[in-house]
Amino acid sequence: MGYRIRIFDSGVDTMKYKVEVVDRGEEVEAEEGQSVLQALLYGGVEWMHACGGFCNCTTCRIKVEEGMENLSEMEQDEKNTLRRFQGDQVLEGPFRLSCQAKIYGDIKISEPEWF
Ligand code: FES
Repeated sequence: MGYRIRIFDSGVDTMKYKVEVVDRGEEVEAEEGQSVLQALLYGGVEWMHACGGFCNCTTCRIKVEEGMENLSEMEQDEKNTLRRFQGDQVLEGPFRLSCQAKIYGDIKISEPEWF
């Protein structure tokens, strides 16, 4: 469950959530609206991201084990990139590009075995 924090004295409240990488036993904290990739990298978790987070490669892919409803809706760019590299069937599975999926609640992810 997320929790609200106040950032310094800016008067801005932000929610914090948990991203758990279940197959690695790692966990990081994420700010509301942050991409999964940003949360992983800022939290010190190494995660492939060959195109630098520009939705052009799929190397940052994640398998969402729990909390798909806590991620932003998939936009057309992400769908197109996943289709281009992985085919239409990938859109039916629990897969997202970590550079595009934004966090709005706790999630559990793993590294997909397919490429
Ligand atoms: S880093 Fe290349 S698609 Fe996400």
